[in-house]
Amino acid sequence: MIPFLDLKAQYQSIKPEIDAAVFQVLESSQFVLGAEVAGFETDFAAYCGAKHAIAVNSGTSALHLALLAAGIGPGDEVITIPFTFVATVSAICYTGARPVFVDVDPVSFTMDPALLEQAITPRTKAILPVHLYGQMADMDPILAIAGRHGIPVIEDACQAHGAEYKGRRAGSLGVSGCFSFYPGKNLGAYGEGGMVVTSDDGHAKTIRMLRDWGQEKRYHHVLKGFNYRMEGMQGAILRVKLRYLEQWTEARRTHARQYGALLNGGSVSVPAEVSDRRHVYHIYAVRTPERDALQRMLQAEGIQTGLHYPIPVHLQEAHQDLGYKRGDFPCSEAAADEVLSLPMFPEMSATQIEQVAAAVRQEAGVSR
Ligand SMILES: Cc1ncc(COP(=O)(O)O)c(C=O)c1O
Repeated sequence: MIPFLDLKAQYQSIKPEIDAAVFQVLESSQFVLGAEVAGFETDFAAYCGAKHAIAVNSGTSALHLALLAAGIGPGDEVITIPFTFVATVSAICYTGARPVFVDVDPVSFTMDPALLEQAITPRTKAILPVHLYGQMADMDPILAIAGRHGIPVIEDACQAHGAEYKGRRAGSLGVSGCFSFYPGKNLGAYGEGGMVVTSDDGHAKTIRMLRDWGQEKRYHHVLKGFNYRMEGMQGAILRVKLRYLEQWTEARRTHARQYGALLNGGSVSVPAEVSDRRHVYHIYAVRTPERDALQRMLQAEGIQTGLHYPIPVHLQEAHQDLGYKRGDFPCSEAAADEVLSLPMFPEMSATQIEQVAAAVRQEAGVSR
């Protein structure tokens, strides 16, 4: 049996430090925000190369507040991609704005900059590229187009902790960047968590207030805010885990290279790492028209896989009100039908990778 990911193995590898961090929060009783969360904010801002980091209770909350701080509201349009986790789109809907989709590039599965400009209207108030699977969107053309139109870019970096574009870290290129610390993420909490990073002082101040009931100081509510605070325990745990992130990312990249070497030339296509980007392989998705059959056969051999994501957001029942239909975003639709996420976690052994790759080669009918 090879699991899709193994959170227990990771906990065991750092147990003494995690246990000490948790007990320290219990002793201090700083259960909501507090010193550990503040320390984690400082460390994570530095890691991303941003001036500020504001810790919240999920990636969805991070996106919601980043959009609000950019002034997004009812009547506005926000451009993003349909081939993403639904939260990207829900966060736009929370503000009352309308999500407008552009298709993905078929190789990187990130926003196709060639399609961006034609989606811009006088109502467009933000562009929200998604660094899907851990590889950053093609930010230079996106930022150039956004700059020409005076539209802010907010990065959905929920899957891309430590990913880079031309040497710059995810979250530091747009006006703000949003991260998720859902347990299975490359940097995962032991519960829910999220972060906005920004180098804009005004955005940082607004987001800091909005996450804590819009307070400027206690019981002085300047804005209509939310209870989106990070818990002390999560801050303490994430602060410990951040120290291991680079090592874990390098392990993922090594696994990806090994998968690539074993699967290349076969009948599944392997993910492409674009030359000027550092892919952090949150998801290692191969692609084949026989996806469903391959998934069933791997399951029968005890190999867990995932689908990220089987239905693009424009075809989700919940978002039919946007008026899109099948055929509107062909690259997203084809990807949704054909991608299959293989097991990928830092603690995987080379033998496990070999076993998965051998099963994929055999089941997908590849002879090597
Ligand atoms: C691309 C993307 N955006 C947003 C989110 C939302 O993050 P969370 O689950 O922490 O709310 C996630 C994670 O699940 C994600 O993968």
